[in-house]
Amino acid sequence: MLWAVEAAPMGVLLLGPDGTLGHANPAARHLAGLIAPGPQSTPQHLLGLVPDEAWAQACQKGQWLGEVRVGDALILEVGVFCGADENAGRRFVTFTDVSARSARELELQQRHDELERTYRRLSGAQEQLLQSEKMASIGQLAAGVAHEINNPIGYVHSNLGTLREYVSALFGMIDAYSTALAAPDPMSQRDTVQAQRQRLDIDFILGDLPQLLDESREGIERVTRIVQDLKEFSHVGRNEAMRPSDLVKGLESTLNIVWNDLKYKVKLEKHYGEMPPVECHPSEINQVFMNLLINAGQAIAERGVITLACGAEDAEAWISIGDSGCGIAEESLGRIFDPFFTTKPIGRGTGLGLAISYRIIEKHHGRIDVSSRVGTGTTFRIVLPLRQPAATA
Ligand SMILES: Nc1ncnc2c1ncn2[C@@H]1O[C@H](COP(=O)(O)OP(=O)(O)OP(=O)(O)O)[C@@H](O)[C@H]1O
Ligand SMILES: [Mg+2]
Repeated sequence: MLWAVEAAPMGVLLLGPDGTLGHANPAARHLAGLIAPGPQSTPQHLLGLVPDEAWAQACQKGQWLGEVRVGDALILEVGVFCGADENAGRRFVTFTDVSARSARELELQQRHDELERTYRRLSGAQEQLLQSEKMASIGQLAAGVAHEINNPIGYVHSNLGTLREYVSALFGMIDAYSTALAAPDPMSQRDTVQAQRQRLDIDFILGDLPQLLDESREGIERVTRIVQDLKEFSHVGRNEAMRPSDLVKGLESTLNIVWNDLKYKVKLEKHYGEMPPVECHPSEINQVFMNLLINAGQAIAERGVITLACGAEDAEAWISIGDSGCGIAEESLGRIFDPFFTTKPIGRGTGLGLAISYRIIEKHHGRIDVSSRVGTGTTFRIVLPLRQPAATA
């Protein structure tokens, strides 16, 4: 028994029933030397490290375990043991130097904290990147949308000018009639009125005016629709709960917004099937549509077809966006969803569109697949559950 105590790598102090020091093994004497260097160093110094409450607890429960810090560098794991029954009155205390382990643990903890901080910073940066990419693409689109809005505004404005002339001619005509009516013999004024009517071109005005009004109204309605689409597209619902939404409406709104970039080279084909409402953040799904539509448009060099289709099966809805463009090379297919993967020239593509889209669809518990053949075209297919799993909806 004593041999085991002597050989133990940790310091061991054996005590008598009255708490006086009976025996200290070599490891204990070594530790005592570390605590109080010099010839007067005794194992008693070690014993002095045991907190008072440790004795009370050890007597009650049989043992007490704790850590004691000595100075800056030394940390000792201390165990106080009190025997019971046939060992009653026997006590011993162990001291293990855990300074190195604690230093390692501290270092690990520090690294862990640092990693966590970096992770939080990165997540924040990614969120910002996502937001700025969204803003950038909206900025890019703004020019196109401005053009779309400018056109109808332009002709409504010019129509208003014409209408003003027409109205003043009609007022002139009303004046002519009033003057004729006020004359003693109105019938004698007939030729004058007729001449006035011809001079003011009233017959033409009567034919043209309803047309101008209709055209202007259409123009205003178009602007209203585009503004509505923009609002729908950019509706920020990040912190809102997902809500059942009409994906086809979202696709059509988004299409209207990007149409300016596509209309000169793209023929649209639509094969819309039954589409129940899908629980989602519509603005985010619209962003995916926009990225896919822009990619499809960019893949078509001169003229081509974009095919939109949708449908629903079981508890899932799907939307596909296909193009007759250049296609994706076999070796690129596995990388297109990677952030910053782009085959487009600098300034044209950042390689974020699909990475962001992937993330959005993943967040909606859906999937996004691609099939492509070089020279034939590419089709992206998004599948989304109609209802989100309870915890995230
Ligand atoms: N419809 C498509 N036809 C052909 N290639 C495509 C199509 N969609 C994506 N790709 C390929 O995938 C790459 C990555 O697309 P992604 O939308 O992520 O980035 P990008 O279009 O290059 O840039 P960004 O969308 O950030 O402006 C593209 O550079 C292109 O090579
Ligand atoms: Mg893109």
